[in-house]
Amino acid sequence: MTLLDVENLDVHFRVKRGLFGGGSYTVRAVNDVSFTIDAGETLGIVGESGSGKSTVGRALLRLVDATAGRIQLDGKEVTQLTGRMLDFRRDLQVIFQDPYSSLNPSMVIGATIGEPLGLHQGLTGADRERRVAELLDQVGLPADAASRYPSEFSGGQRQRIAIARALALEPRLIICDEPVSALDVSTQSQVINLLEELQERFGLSYLFIAHDLAVVRHISSRIGVMYLGRILEMGPADRVYDAPAHPYTEMLLTAVPVADPVAQRERKAKRRTLPVTELPSPTNPPGGCPFHGRCPLVMDVCRTTLPEPRPVAGGGWAACHRHDTNA
Ligand SMILES: Nc1ncnc2c1ncn2[C@@H]1O[C@H](COP(=O)(O)OP(=O)(O)O)[C@@H](O)[C@H]1O
Ligand code: SF4
Ligand SMILES: [Mg+2]
Repeated sequence: MTLLDVENLDVHFRVKRGLFGGGSYTVRAVNDVSFTIDAGETLGIVGESGSGKSTVGRALLRLVDATAGRIQLDGKEVTQLTGRMLDFRRDLQVIFQDPYSSLNPSMVIGATIGEPLGLHQGLTGADRERRVAELLDQVGLPADAASRYPSEFSGGQRQRIAIARALALEPRLIICDEPVSALDVSTQSQVINLLEELQERFGLSYLFIAHDLAVVRHISSRIGVMYLGRILEMGPADRVYDAPAHPYTEMLLTAVPVADPVAQRERKAKRRTLPVTELPSPTNPPGGCPFHGRCPLVMDVCRTTLPEPRPVAGGGWAACHRHDTNA
């Protein structure tokens, strides 16, 4: 069953050049992005920093306005919601990369987790304490964590606290915006295991954002690859990882370290070496294929015509002229 349905989403920012009438320019952070997430499913979104991943998440949360497109959560149009916004916010929660910045340093953990319970469910006193203890237990923290401050916890524990707070209102979908990017590798896998366990238990859906394909592969059933505000390739996680159909995905994969050095060398030899050049600016995106300036396989048509998504073997699609039938 489709829980989230995003169709042709654009998010453009108008930015003023100077304080006093310096004109303005447009940042095309998200362009024509479409995807769905089923109930209980994880969709991974990967791409370099600045590709528009967080802006997609922020548009879903209504923290920024969509310039165009439709966002439906459980059949309800999110972009049109006004007065009764709170109802939909319960269904949609978010976890950020740096839990320290999203936790109030002067508030004990119990108050932070209990806040939404008081605001939205009217829970007070012992009822609220009981529910906070239950949430702490669900994320693997002791009940006495409730009376301590964020500074007393490690990065991984703070991310568990942020997860407990996100779970408090029993959401359907959690946007995980680089939730493990700041953690060391073993803590990363503990947090990812916890997210998977909670998904199983509560039937949660995740939009899991990362800049590292290796991180999203394990938790995602499908992966979308973003570049300059567009999804260039989407498909089953294993297919995207083992048989990338878009030159940009290949480039991202050559940056993913493999534990075994022999396998790493073989993979590097097999893949075309792509120049790791700088990301063009979303203020003045190139015409044609957004990747054409960095693509070693570029053809004339790539400079003028935006490629359409085409189905690829093994499932999903890629937007690359190499997959056009007559190319
Ligand atoms: N509020 C804003 N105003 C202007 N530009 C923005 C704003 N938010 C994001 N951007 C720009 O949009 C682009 C995409 O940003 P973001 O979604 O944060 O990328 P990512 O999460 O993939 O790193 C970047 O060029 C960023 O500078
Ligand atoms: S459309 Fe052309 S430039 Fe873009 S990724 Fe494909 S081959 Fe490269
Ligand atoms: Mg981001």
